[in-house]
Amino acid sequence: MKRFDGRVSIVTGASQGIGEAIARDLADEGATVILADVQLEKLEAVARSIAEAGGRAEAHAVDVADTASVERMVAAVAAAHKRIDHLVNNAGITRDGLLMRMKEEDWDAVIRVNLKGTFNFSKAVLRTMIAARYGRIVNIASVAGLMGNAGQTNYAASKSAVIALARSLAREVGARGITVNAVAPGFIATAMTEKLPEEVKAAYLEIIPLKKFGLPKDVSSAVKFLLSEDASYITGQVVSVNGGMYM
Ligand SMILES: NC(=O)c1ccc[n+]([C@@H]2O[C@H](COP(=O)([O-])OP(=O)(O)OC[C@H]3O[C@@H](n4cnc5c(N)ncnc54)[C@H](O)[C@@H]3O)[C@@H](O)[C@H]2O)c1
Repeated sequence: MKRFDGRVSIVTGASQGIGEAIARDLADEGATVILADVQLEKLEAVARSIAEAGGRAEAHAVDVADTASVERMVAAVAAAHKRIDHLVNNAGITRDGLLMRMKEEDWDAVIRVNLKGTFNFSKAVLRTMIAARYGRIVNIASVAGLMGNAGQTNYAASKSAVIALARSLAREVGARGITVNAVAPGFIATAMTEKLPEEVKAAYLEIIPLKKFGLPKDVSSAVKFLLSEDASYITGQVVSVNGGMYM
């Protein structure tokens, strides 16, 4: 018996990086994972490789910020599986730049994916979770949403907002058996951080007490805990996975 046997878990932004690691881990623990991403080919490759490893996965092409598409996708998943136990709002983008020079479209793009995407999926799964009187939602935030980061006003604001969304929703749905938490990663080695200049990476290492960057599986471990029965009395919380970069 695995700990997520029989569970149905939606993971957004699952075609690579942290979302892919979360999806693989949940499938390893027995969950049927519903993968949502804009990169369909990569997503299908992840789903195939999960199936080859003996897991259950479905790939769905969806832009998390497109409300109607998200509603359609979630309705189809609920109809097919009759349950949605877990939602991990992981899809996220950066469009870095100093506020003085930030283009309106860079502000809008980040808020649209990171914040509106989290709103869309959270709202869409609630009917099914409330009917079951069970659900676990985890929003992937960021250390930037806790401490701020020069060059990331749009991103930090969106990540602070998904923390506030988690806390507020936790208060709304706690009586229905649903927990809502956030995980705030620090510097995790993925495509998102790969593109940063070497001197920026070196500066981050300086301020990380554990003196190394995190891996996607470090974030996934915290997500798995929050989705599990071990965390059934934890809601409205932020778990930092940052090597001590911000305490
Ligand atoms: N890597 C880090 O250091 C770090 C730190 C803190 C927080 N995070 C957060 O973790 C999450 C995952 O980041 P990552 O490092 O794996 O990034 P990544 O860029 O490797 O992966 C992001 C995924 O989201 C998908 N995506 C982007 N826009 C989408 C949309 N509109 N609809 C559906 N899917 C979309 C991408 O296709 C990709 O698969 C993000 O929310 C990110 O902000 C990452």
